[in-house]
Amino acid sequence: MYQLSKPIQDLRKKRETAMLGGGEKRIADQHAKGKLTARERIELLVDKDSFEEYDLFVTHTCTNFGMEDQVYYGDGVVTGTATINERVVYIFAQDFTVFGGSLSKAYAEKICKVMDMALKNGCPLIGLNDSGGARIQEGVDALAGYAEIFWRNVMSSGVIPQISAILGPCAGGAVYSPAITDFVIMEKENSYMFVTGPKVVKTVLNETVSVEDLGGAQVHSSKSGVAHFIAANEEETIKIIQKLLSYLPSNNMEDPPYQLSQDPVNRLCEALDKIIPDNPNKPYDILDVVNEIADEGEFLQVMSNFAQNIVVGFCRINGRSVGIVANQPRVLAGVLDIDASIKGARFVRFCDAFNIPLVVLEDVPGFLPGTNQEHNGIIRNGAKLLYAFAEATVPKITVILRKAYGGAYCVMNSRHMRADLVYAWPSAEIAVMGPKGAVEVIFRKEAKESADPKQTLLDREQEYRDKFANPYNAAERGYIDDIIEPSSTRFRIARALEMLANKKDSIPPRKHGNIPL
Ligand code: HXC
Repeated sequence: MYQLSKPIQDLRKKRETAMLGGGEKRIADQHAKGKLTARERIELLVDKDSFEEYDLFVTHTCTNFGMEDQVYYGDGVVTGTATINERVVYIFAQDFTVFGGSLSKAYAEKICKVMDMALKNGCPLIGLNDSGGARIQEGVDALAGYAEIFWRNVMSSGVIPQISAILGPCAGGAVYSPAITDFVIMEKENSYMFVTGPKVVKTVLNETVSVEDLGGAQVHSSKSGVAHFIAANEEETIKIIQKLLSYLPSNNMEDPPYQLSQDPVNRLCEALDKIIPDNPNKPYDILDVVNEIADEGEFLQVMSNFAQNIVVGFCRINGRSVGIVANQPRVLAGVLDIDASIKGARFVRFCDAFNIPLVVLEDVPGFLPGTNQEHNGIIRNGAKLLYAFAEATVPKITVILRKAYGGAYCVMNSRHMRADLVYAWPSAEIAVMGPKGAVEVIFRKEAKESADPKQTLLDREQEYRDKFANPYNAAERGYIDDIIEPSSTRFRIARALEMLANKKDSIPPRKHGNIPL
């Protein structure tokens, strides 16, 4: 054993100090709140011993309010690179033990450095957020730091996946960095996000609201749509990040990772032959369909508590990562409304940006009527979903299970939106509207003038049903490519994905389109 030189001993000592962030007392406080430290979180997230830290010795340069006497190595954020399941990622983890994880100029520069590296090297960026916001003592320097981060979030959007975990406070303008990233995961017990907190809400609006009710994980995952996932604790948050990454490519020039499946590609899904109820107005659970067709029945649902009338998420079919967009007949009969359209559109655009094929499972009775929807902009918001499908150039496959009515037929990745392959089950009903409504419009006069108006309408309804409540009209026109037996759906999608694997498509060159935001 040789004697370490003084410089090496000094380095080790400094490192040891740096590893403690804001010190042992503050680490104990963090644990007492049921929270992990920034370093503990990184350790859970990445492959063992793979983390390489940068800027460990960075300190702030602020001299306001005696700040020169309070200096901590690292300055409240841990940054660096690591591997997760052997794939390189870049990470920043805010350290609440140092000035409440508040953001200084030096701290922002550390984050910007890893953001730049992630973008240059084409690797996902993961942010673990736990911060009191702008470091108040730094004034405009802190604001400038946030804006620099926002700008990088925008430049990275659609180029590398960006994932935000919220594990503590995230308030004020600070919320806009996670908001721009692709996925926000909120830990249930200790995280919250709001632009203005309960105190300001009370002062300005005289409204009393708790932190949880204003911006807790429950609210953001079910009401606002800000959070894509809610996790029971920090460990689950980390697991969701790892799982999510397994479906995604590292950047927009790569294909998503292929994962060999033990699940036979030609496995018949016999349960699907019986899943559509005889009564067309009866619901069933679209998740049962997704689970049947997915490899090993595994599906990572995104935004599972928000706009539940549409289901979106990732699964694999014959080893290939796909994005599922499916109407959910169990909720509002699977109708499209404002929230469902926005949820679907954002997911479609994410998949398209990252070369993830889209599989649409359609059973939609139309758009939700009513003043609430119209006044809040179902026209503008429904158009987002249409726009997203039309613009997407990844392989696009649609399976019409049952209803495909009206505008919703067009919007939900129809042939006319350039779906590559459209299949229908024999139970498909493809029409301008449902039989009852349609007959009321076109045969009202005839019924009124007949001897038995009620019977006339019923007869006409049956006639309409015979004519349109089936997939054959659309098949005769080539609008659907084949009518398939439900049990063969997994195999047919898998084969379609195989055939579309080398698809090349493009849209006209332009600076950017003008999606109706
Ligand atoms: C400087 C801060 C700080 C901040 C917390 N601290 N937030 N220091 N700037 N923004 C310090 C505290 O002074 C304290 O230091 C330590 O961090 C821990 O904070 P506590 O208050 O003891 O912790 P806790 O009780 O858990 O409360 C956490 C908190 C609270 C809810 C986050 O600290 C808080 O409300 N902070 C202020 C939040 C805020 O208003 N930030 C500015 C938002 S505006 P000591 O030494 O006493 O232990 C903003 C604009 C961004 O961020 C705009 C971007 C465009």
